Amino acid sequence: MDLRGFIGRCEKIGELKRITAEVDWNLEISHISKLNEERGGPALLFENVKGYSSPVLTGAFGTPPRLSIAMGMTTSYSMCDLAREWMKLSIKEVIPAREVSTGPILENVDDVASVNLDKFPVPKFYPLDGGRYIGTAVFLVLRDPETGDVNLGTYRMQMLDNQRCGVQILPGKRGERIMKKYKKMGKKMPAAAVIGCDPLLFMAGAMMQAGTSEYDIVGSIRGEPTEYIVSDFTGLPIPATAEIVLEGVIDPENFQPEGPFGEYTGYYTDELEKVIKKPCLEVKRVLHRNNPILWATSVGRPVTDIHMLLAFTRTATLWTDLERMQIPGIKSVYIPPEAAGRFWAIASVEQRYPGHSAHVGNAIISTTTGSYGIKGVIIVDSDIKADDIGRVLWALSVRYDPLRSTELIKRGRSTPLDPALDPNSNKLITSRIIMDATIPYEWETKPKEIALDKDMLEKVQSRWKEYGF
Ligand SMILES: Cc1cc2nc3c(=O)[nH]c(=O)nc-3n(C[C@H](O)[C@H](O)[C@H](O)COP(=O)(O)O)c2cc1C
Repeated sequence: MDLRGFIGRCEKIGELKRITAEVDWNLEISHISKLNEERGGPALLFENVKGYSSPVLTGAFGTPPRLSIAMGMTTSYSMCDLAREWMKLSIKEVIPAREVSTGPILENVDDVASVNLDKFPVPKFYPLDGGRYIGTAVFLVLRDPETGDVNLGTYRMQMLDNQRCGVQILPGKRGERIMKKYKKMGKKMPAAAVIGCDPLLFMAGAMMQAGTSEYDIVGSIRGEPTEYIVSDFTGLPIPATAEIVLEGVIDPENFQPEGPFGEYTGYYTDELEKVIKKPCLEVKRVLHRNNPILWATSVGRPVTDIHMLLAFTRTATLWTDLERMQIPGIKSVYIPPEAAGRFWAIASVEQRYPGHSAHVGNAIISTTTGSYGIKGVIIVDSDIKADDIGRVLWALSVRYDPLRSTELIKRGRSTPLDPALDPNSNKLITSRIIMDATIPYEWETKPKEIALDKDMLEKVQSRWKEYGF
């Protein structure tokens, strides 16, 4: 599957709409997309952007059916169930990516003399944004100079001018750790920014996945190898069917002002007050397909497609991490999009021993996914699904006792994008809370829950129409 295959499948079932009216890249595309998403609308393909001839795609991941299509599944899955499928497939043996000699991405090659990022209809999202953002649904391909490992990571990218992009690689990310190695070696870091590709690749690039190459993980989920070409320019592997690829170098010694940008938290970060310099991709070559599709996510306050994506990918990796830790009894896991797809996690557990629920709570904040940014964990018993928020609140009301059931952790890794952190701190450390909303396993007398009479229930159900409903 490539982005065009995904669009075709969405369109077939009414999950994608083509907008043929003329629209402006300057705020109009983003505002239409935001309103459309708030109404639960389809993905949008803007085919008539003023001054440009190629289209922009937004809202790709706005609903569970679209996430299902991206996964290659039927559209009846909830996000939580889809994440479980990802977990099951990704812990199987990986299918290594396959090198091919050519692909549609080579249809157009702009060398250094003809690089012009303004040939693409790059949107500006919010009035206070520092500029146009070419990379929102993007991932950067990097190679670790010591191990040779390839890393994909999604870092937002601002178009600074026609040949340069600011890239927000946040402290502590694997991308940053790789960049520091190039710095130590006194070298510039080759990088390729991929905009528009198999949606699963974009999802994998946004995941915190240690060790295995994201290309290979996508292979195991698709059931067939990801095809890539090796760039004769950067030596990096690039998806053969990508839409747009910006190739170049990042000089670890030469950062440039980037931002501000209306973030997925619903807030701006401190770039509004001060100039913050970030890594800068000097674009030396552009590859693109004919009529390339510029894929963009929506941003701002939840819930937009970026929150659906974050919630889905983090639920999937958290569940995978827990599975690898071999903790028994975990029935479902969920990081809700309303929690910006990051800050709260919920797990449902079938308790088998005293302290089992506490085991799960502590495990969650020790996983790679859970150790970054999560502020709160809620554990519920297995009669409640982790994504049944109404019942989770019920458990917090009738099974949770703050003094008995709360653990506070003072120091945990956070994201500097969290507006709740003290602006005068370095904004890298958060506290966490674990709320155990289960009935303690070791209680000999457990509260008796009300149940309907089974026989009467059957009778009532069989006569339902007779009652006039
Ligand atoms: C749409 C989207 C935008 C993101 N923007 C950024 C960003 O600007 N900077 C960043 O460091 N992480 C960002 N992330 C999160 C990273 O992609 C994620 O943490 C990824 O695992 C980083 O890869 P790495 O740890 O291999 O460097 C974003 C994720 C998504 C889904």
